[in-house]
Amino acid sequence: MATPSAARGAWTSRTGFIFAAAGSAIGLGNIWRFPYTAGESGGGAFVLIYLLCVVLIGIPVLFAELAIGRSTEKNPVGAFKKIVPGSMWPVLGGLGIATGFGILAFYSVIAGWTLSYLFKAVTGGFGQAMTADESAALFTQLTGDPVWAIILAGVFILLTIFVVQGGVSGGIERTTKILMPVLLVILVILAIRSVTLPNGMAGVEYLFKPDFSKVNIQVFMQALGQALFSLSLGMGAMITYGSYLPKSENMPVAGVSVAFFDTIIALLAGLIIFPAIFSVGGETSGGPGLVFVVLPSIFNSLPAGNLFAVAFYFLLAIAALTSTISLLEVCVSYFVDEKEWSRQKAAWLLGGICFAIAIPSALSQGGSEFFTSFVGGLDFLSIQNIIWGNFSLSIGALLLCIFVAWKWGVPKAIESLEESGDSLPAKGLWSFLIRFVCPVAVGVILIFIIVTQQYF
Ligand code: TRP
Repeated sequence: MATPSAARGAWTSRTGFIFAAAGSAIGLGNIWRFPYTAGESGGGAFVLIYLLCVVLIGIPVLFAELAIGRSTEKNPVGAFKKIVPGSMWPVLGGLGIATGFGILAFYSVIAGWTLSYLFKAVTGGFGQAMTADESAALFTQLTGDPVWAIILAGVFILLTIFVVQGGVSGGIERTTKILMPVLLVILVILAIRSVTLPNGMAGVEYLFKPDFSKVNIQVFMQALGQALFSLSLGMGAMITYGSYLPKSENMPVAGVSVAFFDTIIALLAGLIIFPAIFSVGGETSGGPGLVFVVLPSIFNSLPAGNLFAVAFYFLLAIAALTSTISLLEVCVSYFVDEKEWSRQKAAWLLGGICFAIAIPSALSQGGSEFFTSFVGGLDFLSIQNIIWGNFSLSIGALLLCIFVAWKWGVPKAIESLEESGDSLPAKGLWSFLIRFVCPVAVGVILIFIIVTQQYF
């Protein structure tokens, strides 16, 4: 089997790659961000636009990133340097690395909340009746404590550093292979329970019945940002992961499988959260705390609910970890490849800086008044989420499409995607999407947002 240089590490097989890439894609984006964004953007219409974004923009951009990664076997900056030396394009890779950093700095805070819920579950905190108000109070108690919020985000970053400094193929592949399927099973059980709660079907309807009166440019921006965020696109994570994929593997199949599983998990999360909201009573627009506040009511209504809670928060933490690994890995791979730092040095130093940047987000849920109501009534974490998760990823994806379509060229990209000898199905379609549909759609959304100034 032809493998990229051993020093950089490589996946041992295609399933290894699928699990690692799926591990990056599947995370808090699916289970925390998707339901909360859908709830803020009016439900069904958002979901429909989101699905269109996944198919028409997400999958084509995913292919583009994988093609660049496989062809260059480099980190995002090195990849652009290799293809067009001496140009400005490596700046785009640099933007990606900064974005990874920005995302990791707020993502680890939410991951920290998962740990505190896990701890609560382990000590038997779920499975008995809890009113919606009690659950909201618990959320405030767990996430509003400034010291704990900072410590737990730090713990999560530490876990990420430990895995990343060990290199890509061992840790990530093994954990995801076993644990992701278990997560899927638990989600299915929770979704069945939630949908069958009294009035649960109202939540299903909310999720799948589009109400177009709710659609505005914001909804498009949210859906686009969510599609990119959920598939780990727009910042070069998939360039980096694609660079570890053995040349012999069928990349298009791997890419589509990842997108498929990622979408299924997000929809399952929606099927867990919204029926429960409609059954127990609560606001669909509950903001970043939505999932954490709603879930306890489902655990209450299950036999052995606390056990489910333990399993769920544990697996969610693992899913978040396989995502934070990919975020840190992109930054680390840049400093290892381009600056010749050791993996250890890069992982610890970058992880440490990221922890410092995470502190304001950790304080933004009540820990500090200043960060809780930061700009326009929004908390610091929500603002980071919008800046990095929506804008930066969209700009990254737009420039990436332009690069592949008009600079590197579609034929070269296709050659890279077909390197294993398997031909790329629907080549013409992909080429059309990446040259016209993706850049125009993303560009138009961004321009509209700028013109109307509806940033948040
Ligand atoms: N996709 C992950 C999630 O849904 C988050 C993530 C990991 C990510 N790596 C990324 C998002 C790179 C954007 C870019 O939870």
